[in-house]
Amino acid sequence: MEARNAIALLLALVVAASFLCDGVHSRHHHHTKRHSVRPPSHAPGPSGPRRAPSPRHSSPSAPPPARTPPSAPPMPGAPAPAPSDDGDNVYDVIKDFGAVGDGVTDDTDAIKTAWDTACQDDGEGVVLAAAGHSFLVHTTTFTGPCQGSVTLQIDGTIVAPSEPTTWPANSKRNWLVFYKADGMALRGSGLIDGKGQKWWDLPCKPHKGGSTHGPCDSPVALRFFMSNNVTVQGLRVQDSPEFHFRFDSCRGVHVDSLSISSPALSPNTDGIHVENTQDVLITNTVVSNGDDCVSIGAGTLNVHIENVTCGPGHGIRFASSSFFLVAFLQMLYIYSSGID
Ligand SMILES: *[C@@H]1O[C@H](CO)[C@@H](O)[C@H](O)[C@H]1NC(C)=O
Ligand SMILES: *[C@@H]1O[C@H](CO)[C@@H](O)[C@H](O)[C@H]1NC(C)=O
Repeated sequence: MEARNAIALLLALVVAASFLCDGVHSRHHHHTKRHSVRPPSHAPGPSGPRRAPSPRHSSPSAPPPARTPPSAPPMPGAPAPAPSDDGDNVYDVIKDFGAVGDGVTDDTDAIKTAWDTACQDDGEGVVLAAAGHSFLVHTTTFTGPCQGSVTLQIDGTIVAPSEPTTWPANSKRNWLVFYKADGMALRGSGLIDGKGQKWWDLPCKPHKGGSTHGPCDSPVALRFFMSNNVTVQGLRVQDSPEFHFRFDSCRGVHVDSLSISSPALSPNTDGIHVENTQDVLITNTVVSNGDDCVSIGAGTLNVHIENVTCGPGHGIRFASSSFFLVAFLQMLYIYSSGID
């Protein structure tokens, strides 16, 4: 334990030193070509775009439109919430919204409608995906702002469709998006499974030796876009087709007690990517994946990382354009790889 702490401290110092000394360029990436496939930020962050997006990526920055209108009023006959012991209103996707939870039936509309209904609740709404069930959810956007606070409680399993060909052509870059979902929490004891294997196997992926210049868009599993004061806690997240988490243009992010995993050879499966985002706290989290553990992109300010275990994978990466970054790292453990 002593040795580990010493190594952790040393690593923290190395990160701090390389950041302070280099300022804007602390790392040579193993897969430099990867940058050509990583989508540039389109987020209209406070500091503005740092380079013009390439024509290939000139699609609109906003997440794809939700399947149902964002602020749709509760459907006529929508169930009344069941108050729980602690005063929250529980919106059970199975009991109240007809989700099947067999892992095969498409439960997207049920969970989306549960969200929209909870979002109209001016109290504390809890959307519950109960334990013991597996919910197949296609790409969708959970949109706020909500009247009260919404918690998405995942105690069961949320699975993505595993076949890239079944994804709509215009939204291959996101799976689950939280858009303007201020104050929301995503938590639970369950699993979010991105079913990334068939995406990783696409011939355009870097490790396949194919063209790295062709379009190879793959979904980020969980994207928080323009959402403030968000909490993600307790879940296991695995096998994302691309980044597991992406926070962009957010303010106030707390990630706690997550377990993020994908195979060591899965391409571009960064654990947590942050850009144009302020005030980020990442604690008590374990990441083992095929790419960066935490990657901190342009326009990011005030990141605090504490008790995060990385490995195998690449550790912490600071984008070459992370100006104005203040990062505090404590108790960072990196196995089977270093910060380079
Ligand atoms: C975050 O929440 C705090 C406390 O509720 C609030 O004061 C603050 O304005 C919120 N920040 C943003 C950016 O919404
Ligand atoms: C660090 O995080 C792990 C979970 O990843 C947790 O079990 C452990 O208690 C945490 N340690 C401290 C000192 O908070």
